[in-house]
Amino acid sequence: MIITFLEMSVSVNQSKESMDISNQINRQNKTAIITGSGRGIGKETAIQLAEHVANVVVCSRTQNEIDSVVKEIENANNNQVNLLGSRCDVSVSSDVNSLVQSAVDKFGSETIEILVINAGVAFDKKLLDTTEVEWDRTINTNLKGAFFFTKAILPHMIKNRSGVILNVNSGAGKAGFSDLSSYCASKFGLAGLAESLALEVESYDIRVLTIFLGKVATKMWQDYDYSYYEKNKNKMLSPQKVATKIVEMIFDTKNYKNGDSVELYYP
Ligand SMILES: NC(=O)c1ccc[n+]([C@@H]2O[C@H](COP(=O)([O-])OP(=O)(O)OC[C@H]3O[C@@H](n4cnc5c(N)ncnc54)[C@H](OP(=O)(O)O)[C@@H]3O)[C@@H](O)[C@H]2O)c1
Repeated sequence: MIITFLEMSVSVNQSKESMDISNQINRQNKTAIITGSGRGIGKETAIQLAEHVANVVVCSRTQNEIDSVVKEIENANNNQVNLLGSRCDVSVSSDVNSLVQSAVDKFGSETIEILVINAGVAFDKKLLDTTEVEWDRTINTNLKGAFFFTKAILPHMIKNRSGVILNVNSGAGKAGFSDLSSYCASKFGLAGLAESLALEVESYDIRVLTIFLGKVATKMWQDYDYSYYEKNKNKMLSPQKVATKIVEMIFDTKNYKNGDSVELYYP
């Protein structure tokens, strides 16, 4: 089932619903791993998830950004959240396996509950100008990284017969865009991976969810087209708003079932 959030009236109802849901949730002894959580959407998702779960794993390739998110979460929660901040390149299977093992060792396999597959890169290039290195970086981060993380996490979720894997996708995972062929290929692939996985985990009470996003005001857009970003950042989605929707999808088991997706294109 695909749920679209384009109309104002729906958004108002949804935000009221989000508040109701968040009031019902106490911090649970669960572990949430958010890939690419050093900045942007991943960072805001880690910060908001830390209000609901006991253990949060912050990871990306940039240590100072990881340290700063960990500090921010510690300060905002009076050190009530257990944190693991660690470098992890999602395109390197040994990095992914060792991060998941560290989370299991620190928090326990039985707590492994939430995986947000968010790390991503994009290159603004025509196909003819795209180098093999850029193609590989895009596919290996946005798609192979999702494969590595899912494969490392899934045995714990299957054993627990519980878990949520939420994939951060894009409108570019539903339609082609000029100068974005490698990114579109990776995000279409991610959509296929999520749909297939949802069928495979049906009998284990694991939910695989996807959020398809429009333009979000993050560094990805600054790097992609700085002058467009500067002119239009106030008309873009904020990473905070995206994170709020992600958290709602994770905890609202009644409205977001295994295999569901949301399209959030406008602020
Ligand atoms: N911004 C948008 O308009 C938009 C729209 C639709 C979908 N999305 C999706 O949203 C997700 C987050 O993007 P964002 O906008 O928040 O971008 P961002 O601000 O650039 O953040 C991307 C995060 O991913 C991390 N990352 C990149 N490559 C990685 C790798 N190989 N291993 C581990 N971490 C890696 C980055 O950290 P390091 O570089 O330090 O590793 C950073 O923490 C992406 O999947 C993107 O495709 C974004």
